[in-house]
Amino acid sequence: MCGIIGYTGSEDVREVLLDALELLEYRGYDSAGLAVKDAENGEIKVRKCAGRVSDLRAICASEKLVSTCGIGHTRWATHGGVNDRNAHPHQVGKVTLVHNGIIENYQELIADYELADELASETDSEVVAALLNHFYEGNPAEALKKTVSKLRGTFALVVMFADQPEIIYSTRNVSPIVATLCDEGAMLASDLTALCRFTNRYFVVPEYHILELHKDAVILKDFEENTVEPEFLTVDWELNSAGKAGYPFYMEKEIMEQPDAIANTIGNRIKGGMPDFSKDGVPDTLFTSCERICIIACGTAMHAGLVAQALVKSILHMHIDVEMASEFMYSDPVIDEKTLVIAVSQSGETIDTLEAVKYAKRRGAKCLSIINVKGSSIARESDYVLYTSAGPEIAVASTKAYTTQLSVFYLIVARMAHSRGVFTQEETQSFVRELQRTPDVMRKVLENRRDIHVVAKKILSAKDLFMIGRGLDYSILLEGSLKLKEVSYIHSEAYASGELKHGPIALITQDTPVVASVTQEKLFSKELSNIREVKSRGADVVIFIKENLSAKLEGEYEMIKLPDMQDEFMVLPASVALQLLAYYVSSDKGFDVDKPRNLAKVVTVE
Ligand code: M6R
Repeated sequence: MCGIIGYTGSEDVREVLLDALELLEYRGYDSAGLAVKDAENGEIKVRKCAGRVSDLRAICASEKLVSTCGIGHTRWATHGGVNDRNAHPHQVGKVTLVHNGIIENYQELIADYELADELASETDSEVVAALLNHFYEGNPAEALKKTVSKLRGTFALVVMFADQPEIIYSTRNVSPIVATLCDEGAMLASDLTALCRFTNRYFVVPEYHILELHKDAVILKDFEENTVEPEFLTVDWELNSAGKAGYPFYMEKEIMEQPDAIANTIGNRIKGGMPDFSKDGVPDTLFTSCERICIIACGTAMHAGLVAQALVKSILHMHIDVEMASEFMYSDPVIDEKTLVIAVSQSGETIDTLEAVKYAKRRGAKCLSIINVKGSSIARESDYVLYTSAGPEIAVASTKAYTTQLSVFYLIVARMAHSRGVFTQEETQSFVRELQRTPDVMRKVLENRRDIHVVAKKILSAKDLFMIGRGLDYSILLEGSLKLKEVSYIHSEAYASGELKHGPIALITQDTPVVASVTQEKLFSKELSNIREVKSRGADVVIFIKENLSAKLEGEYEMIKLPDMQDEFMVLPASVALQLLAYYVSSDKGFDVDKPRNLAKVVTVE
């Protein structure tokens, strides 16, 4: 879950590395470090510290140095606490290394190769540096292969050797590395947000290969020494879309981008008013031949799956499970060749989801994935991919990835309903027309964001908060609640309103604000009873409500009115409103909204 960068070329390497590390910082921000080859004397100099990239930048600023080759790292601590020693790069003998992943057998390696005396940190990564140094006799590829053959776990390794010219070496298993060659030189990174400043062309470094970055070339070889031609991909993200564009935080920028992100995601997939996946190469037989659906995902992506589950049940009347990817393999899931597995992931690198996809495929299931990052590991593992066009999502709290995932699910449901004979052509077109209204409806929510800010101010000091709703509202609130807790540190629980009286209502007091979501007409009166139950126990209640339901509650409750859509689609405006609520609470509390404590954007450890 760390961010890795390597560069050799014509530019001042420290600037390149620091700028890239800032873009990668969302992958981990416990500590930061870099190592560069001093152009004057060829020495490799390491600078690192616990803290942020800005702290590292300050350290580097005080020192004059000419260098055009180096590696860098931002850390999300796994083995060993957050301190300077445990920060990467690690230097042992002739080896200077950064690592992303987890080495499961690092203690055995210390014992087997008597490495203890060479280690200054508590990390598994330094053990790899020591082992590599142990095997190194002047041939980097040989030493890397020998080292890799001893490792158990996941790793992306990026290495400089003291006696090699300005060349960077890399190899990996599971943990991702992308690389490029452009006018300014050769570069690699753990994801392509870091490369976007230089180029929109990149390739994914295959597992168990050795990549060499030279100033004017990239050389890729398999472990048998065969040269492999890199398969270049093009990313359609704007070169500057990874910046904040004047917003104080990426989260706000990404919330605001949602109308366009949805329009881009659905635009090319609607033909003649019908959902169309022909450009994605997804055949209708995938939807007609399956007997059940299983959605696998984590966190926010899983919440998108829960919305899809409600839609599939009510529209397609099909059996559908939503599985937390981290629990999937251990829960004896019912998966076979008749199961359509849909994996959902923004990054395409979440290891739990990746492993779950591999497991499902071993059981004979076909896998369709909904992914934001092209060429990512889950995308490559899947039989079919529907990419969301959200552009780079940098804030740790996922926003535009979620709503674009939802928009793809609406298209899938419509396509399935039509191909399975549940919807007529007219019904399908009408469903799609409603989806096409989403960008405009979302813009209205965004225009009224000040009202949400006012509500946010009222819950700043809350320690605990409940979010209550029924049916689809409950699904929306699971995501709204996750958003609030991860960025504001308020303990928030989403609860199905009807279930509240079976226990949790004991926690409701005048100090426990309640956010209710009321967007489903058929559940309105039941929902209202539950809201009254908490209000009569002293809770301050704010209701996020579909506008045409609000008249009956005027004057009685504080309300955020959401522009009307058909009930199945109200998830979309409601989600944006709840994202804004979480955002304002966090920013008003003065938190680093984009980098909540203990979290990382891409979770590549199980
Ligand atoms: O990259 P993925 O969509 O696979 O990530 C899954 C979760 O880690 C992610 O959604 C996480 O829950 C977010 N921080 C929530 O905002």
